[in-house]
Amino acid sequence: MRIGILNSGGDCPGLNAVIHGVVGAASKLGMEVIGFRDGFEGLLPPADYVQLDPEDTVGIMKLGGTILGTTNKSHFASRLGTDDLKEIAEQVVTLTRETLRELDICALIVVGGDGSLGTALHLYNAGIPVIGVPKTIDNDLQATAMTFGFDSAVSCVVDALDRLHTTAVSHKRVMVVEVMGRSAGWIALWGGIAGGANIVLIPEIEFNLEKVAACIKERESKGNHSTMIVVAEGASLPDGDLITKDECGNSVRLGGIGEVIADRISTLTGKETRACTLGHLQRGGEPTSLDRILGARFGVKAVELAHGKRFGRMVSYQSYYVSSVTIEEAVDKVRKVDPEGQVVHTARAIGICLGD
Ligand code: F6P
Repeated sequence: MRIGILNSGGDCPGLNAVIHGVVGAASKLGMEVIGFRDGFEGLLPPADYVQLDPEDTVGIMKLGGTILGTTNKSHFASRLGTDDLKEIAEQVVTLTRETLRELDICALIVVGGDGSLGTALHLYNAGIPVIGVPKTIDNDLQATAMTFGFDSAVSCVVDALDRLHTTAVSHKRVMVVEVMGRSAGWIALWGGIAGGANIVLIPEIEFNLEKVAACIKERESKGNHSTMIVVAEGASLPDGDLITKDECGNSVRLGGIGEVIADRISTLTGKETRACTLGHLQRGGEPTSLDRILGARFGVKAVELAHGKRFGRMVSYQSYYVSSVTIEEAVDKVRKVDPEGQVVHTARAIGICLGD
């Protein structure tokens, strides 16, 4: 039995741990693994692939990125903007089927986020034996309690806040730190709590800049002359605007809200304010131990699903246990931060202002 694996969409710490898990588990079951390069594109003729044996994956768990390469711009992209779905051309599906047949591959493991899992579902509905593995640093997929990459991204935010805190205190400044999170504020909220932010602004909670300014002034009156604000890139301004850069492939590139908020806060408070965008630092570098373990567990489970011919299913993490759900259950359902939930409650209880 031969299985294929590809990564698709943005890279994410822990992808190599998934590959390591897949190759290890497959070899124990006497299965061969073919890794397709640069996402789904590697499936198109001339197919771009490499055979992965256990010795090829020694030491890759700790590497960031993916040894297979990935892309979020491809002939297979199924998502336009944030909502609209695009059909994948029939010709592309036919070529995929031919590649898998020529290479004698009986299962294709797709490691990707919401858009890539939408593509995986499309291929599965077209009769291709697909298994999904969820991936996103944003941690916003409904059908899994956690995705690998999130913990590494949060660690990056916490490290940045620890560093920025000392310069903010020294200069008595307000520091606005923009973090990733297109549709959900998980990175901002977890990073903000763990990194000691004073104000956290997320897409799920409508905020008011006068209230943010009032919080800064109140801190000032109590002798706290510096304030740390974390804002998710996907948070909307009070007038409802998302701050975007441009189109990238099939989606809109977010970014810039940190600078906009810093300007407005400076005007409202008279405080010297600086913005810092963490951007792709949050996606790069070594995965944390949690993400290595989660990635490896996801990879092993994906092989079990392939071996059991349980196609059309996606690995899912629930209550410390790795199980599976149908890919259909997983796509197109964003898991947002619950404004009434325990994590928001914790943030408020420890004195974090959410701008509302
Ligand atoms: O979805 C993951 C994510 O990291 C988002 O948080 C971010 O908006 C986007 O990917 C960035 O994508 P790109 O690498 O194409 O700029």
